[in-house]
Amino acid sequence: MPSKPRAASRRRFLSHSALLTAFAASPRGALGALQGGGRRRVILDVDLGIDDAVALLLAHYSPAIDLLGITTVFGNTSLEKGTRNTLYMKEKFGIAANVYRGAAAPLYDPPNPIPTFVHGEDGLGDAEQSIAPSIKAAGLGAPEFIARTILENPGEITVISVGPFTNLMLARLLEPGIVSKVRDVVVMGGAAGLAGELGNATTVAEANAINDPHATSALFRYEWPVTMVGLDVTYTSDASMDEAYLRGLAKEAGEAGAFIERINRFYAGFYQRARGVRTTFQHDSIAVAYAIAPELFKTRRGKVSVITEGVARGQTIFCPVGHHTFNDPGWADLPTQTVCSKLDGPGFRELYRRTLIEGARRKL
Ligand code: RIB
Ligand code: CA
Repeated sequence: MPSKPRAASRRRFLSHSALLTAFAASPRGALGALQGGGRRRVILDVDLGIDDAVALLLAHYSPAIDLLGITTVFGNTSLEKGTRNTLYMKEKFGIAANVYRGAAAPLYDPPNPIPTFVHGEDGLGDAEQSIAPSIKAAGLGAPEFIARTILENPGEITVISVGPFTNLMLARLLEPGIVSKVRDVVVMGGAAGLAGELGNATTVAEANAINDPHATSALFRYEWPVTMVGLDVTYTSDASMDEAYLRGLAKEAGEAGAFIERINRFYAGFYQRARGVRTTFQHDSIAVAYAIAPELFKTRRGKVSVITEGVARGQTIFCPVGHHTFNDPGWADLPTQTVCSKLDGPGFRELYRRTLIEGARRKL
């Protein structure tokens, strides 16, 4: 038998089975993305703690995402440990995207204390035997990588930022042209108060927003399409991953599932103490899910203004379109952005579960 037809039919089979897998992982979202001209080209910006790790695996395994690079930033843990954790995951799970080291501190302020009570001393719930990757971060810095990738691929790149927004704003300082060339920016951060949540780091500030309030403020001042995936949706109770759900992942999704279950034990203890519920809120995966399956979300349009000093430092104030005011200096020049207001919690959990199970089966 000549080898060409066989190769061609193998290619047809592979692309057909990729489509089926995508459909299984997300009946509406992934198929829509594939029909819409291919996978979403994503840079994922992380302060790699526990929920970032869970989100990285969603981005890695989703057939709807083409993960171009992972950039690291301080936040949940030091830049050193966060970068080490990201390299550990790249090696352990065979993630093709390179890792780019970013900012070790905020743009202007001194860094806030590291929340070891949330993510553990190692940033991964102190659950791994040893975190000693044998690979290194790429030579290029995170802001340079972000800027270069956006400029070289105008209109194509989605940046999903799930840590403090320092790398993104440094990229904009390097190359102001990225504002008009990025496809869109999806951020886990802030809270609009639409579901009664205002803050998790302080009474009125979400952690990523307060970890670099000047970067957060700048983010909402530019005319690029930003979607804020804030506490309004990430605290959706039926989207949380409780111990039964995590045990299910450990059983069905190979080492990826077992890893997720292990690192989340510490995180569940934190939520037990902080909110009185033994479950885990997966803030960062919900931001990644927005890029995969936006139909799981309801959104509102409006402006976001960020407080950079004082008792409300890090607060993200939302002014919805149509809100009537008499005298609001400081708001007129802000662009209108998108804020997630509601999430289909069970839909998110199912998207995550199926993506992990199918992905781990495919790639292990
Ligand atoms: O407020 C939750 C966010 O802060 C998440 O991104 C978490 O990983 C921390 O960075
Ligand atoms: Ca994070």
